[in-house]
Amino acid sequence: MLARQRIHELVHEYGHDVLEHERMRIEKHCYQHGAVTTFEHSVRVACLAVYFADRLHLWRFIDLRSLVRAALLHDYFLYDWHYDGDGTHKLHGFTHPRRALTNALEDFDLNPVERNSILRHMFPLTPIPPRYIEGYLVTMADKISATRETFSMARFSKPALAPVPERLVITDSTKKAA
Ligand SMILES: [Fe+2]
Ligand SMILES: [Fe+2]
Repeated sequence: MLARQRIHELVHEYGHDVLEHERMRIEKHCYQHGAVTTFEHSVRVACLAVYFADRLHLWRFIDLRSLVRAALLHDYFLYDWHYDGDGTHKLHGFTHPRRALTNALEDFDLNPVERNSILRHMFPLTPIPPRYIEGYLVTMADKISATRETFSMARFSKPALAPVPERLVITDSTKKAA
């Protein structure tokens, strides 16, 4: 059985290029649930997904690298969904998996397991289930982490985050220019 520290090490070992990517920094400037940033949430989901793979004895059936990368990128939508001035994020719950996948494909080479697990992680809110075990692990870890984070008492005293640095902000015009 893997210890908590070892799980953390594995996530950093297999996910270091994701964790160190410049655009991943945007996630540190956005709250996801409660007082937890999208970056912290993504690391938690990756650790919990690896924990489940270990405790459910799934090592023979999964690819650890794909599991870690899909978990780290599952919410790579790169905006703060709490701010919805023009109504763009009204359907965030349904639309963000595709946005996350689109952004992730701009920055990383992703295999089919990683792509599908990112795209289907909101199942059953979005009706099509994941195709791979890795996807089910990400979905399960995400639901549990999100519930814990949302109902944590820390949400009542969360500090304001620094805004996303100007050069990292994604707007429709920067997207078109890219
Ligand atoms: Fe999500
Ligand atoms: Fe999530």
